[in-house]
Amino acid sequence: MTNHNSPIGVFDSGIGGLTVLKEIRTLMPNENVVYFGDTARVPYGSKSKDTVMRYVRQIIRFLKTKEVKAIVIACNTASAYALFESALDEDIPVIGVIDAGVKTACNVTKNKRIGIIGTDGAIQSGVHAKMINRIDSQISVFGKACPLFVPFAEEGLFDTKLTDGVVEHYLSYFKPLDIDTLILGCTHYPLLINAIRRYLGDNINYVNPAYETACQLRELLLDSNMLCDADNTSVCEFFVSDCAKKMISFADMILGGENNKITALNIENY
Ligand code: DGL
Repeated sequence: MTNHNSPIGVFDSGIGGLTVLKEIRTLMPNENVVYFGDTARVPYGSKSKDTVMRYVRQIIRFLKTKEVKAIVIACNTASAYALFESALDEDIPVIGVIDAGVKTACNVTKNKRIGIIGTDGAIQSGVHAKMINRIDSQISVFGKACPLFVPFAEEGLFDTKLTDGVVEHYLSYFKPLDIDTLILGCTHYPLLINAIRRYLGDNINYVNPAYETACQLRELLLDSNMLCDADNTSVCEFFVSDCAKKMISFADMILGGENNKITALNIENY
């Protein structure tokens, strides 16, 4: 049985979801969290919808064994497939990272020209573009898949000469397009923001949906009286499907402090 002090479940294919978890912990420092990074099967962005949905269902089954009260799919690719193209039928709230970023981008664009970068799967799904045009059909949307950004982030190559090269390779697409807003449509990409900003400049609104997703989660928990007790001491548990040690160092770096309780498990058992 879940109750208001039950943990929030957060998952991603790897370390990208830690950028979302960081915002959740900043906004709701008392909440208990269970994070799962599917490090054995990353990347999701180049896999088929059926495969990603099988992974999503296994991870949700695992998180439910931890009696989570809500789940955040901290992955655009999985959010696109699970929340927009397939119906998930869960008895607890499940939110993704797409709506929040789309709404912010529509609010901040002045010239109504928005770029989106994401995985092959997220960009090909067209979900961001469809949602933007549902809000405002006058907005022109330009999507670009940047599949090498995920391995660069997973390798910790956030801010190197090589990163600059791969950023130029993909983002030169946007140079003639006069976009004033860019959605970081993959939760790994905020880790490369320095290189992205260096190439595209400071005159663009960079939308990292992590913060808005955390706000959306907080509202949802508040509305359903499911925020934890104000004096709860947060427990954050980390699970991965492989390479626990690598995840420990990323969790320590992205979240700050020591996050050494990381357990590897066989997610195929769920
Ligand atoms: N971080 C994920 C996303 O937001 C997935 C990246 C991947 O595994 O390809 O789409």
